[in-house]
Amino acid sequence: MKIWRQTLGCLVLAAAGARVGSLVQQAPAPEARRANPRQSDPLARRAGAKLYARECAACHGPQRGGIGKAPPLSRTDIYRAAPGALFWVLRNGSLRGGMPSFAHLPEVERWQIVTFLQETK
Ligand code: HEC
Repeated sequence: MKIWRQTLGCLVLAAAGARVGSLVQQAPAPEARRANPRQSDPLARRAGAKLYARECAACHGPQRGGIGKAPPLSRTDIYRAAPGALFWVLRNGSLRGGMPSFAHLPEVERWQIVTFLQETK
């Protein structure tokens, strides 16, 4: 009987769209493998900081400390994440999770934000 209850539990979780790990870990491998063309570019980092203040700080906090449902972004796993995975999060957002898509920003600006997120500790 126990096995059935476990199976049922899994089905219920799957139906609810439960996921394992944080949003950034959901990026499909081919997307995550994309390299950041603005990596190690101090100008890109500065541009990204301005974009962060304008587009992201209201939810994730001015110091990236997180507010409410919006998680902190000043985290080791974000610094070390595959740049392409962060880029994927910015393009797709998470409708269900409350993270908006930033596909309306030019690609170069999204990469600048990724540079800021990973190179400002
Ligand atoms: C309207 C509020 C809001 C705004 C604006 C917003 N976010 Fe988010 N963000 C969220 C929420 C809520 C989540 C959690 C979503 C989830 O886990 O499904 C999230 C998740 C994320 C994640 C994934 C974190 C993880 O732990 O995997 C990243 C990265 C992120 N946001 C970056 C940004 C950046 C960069 C910007 C600005 C370009 C931004 N967000 C703007 C609300 C917001």
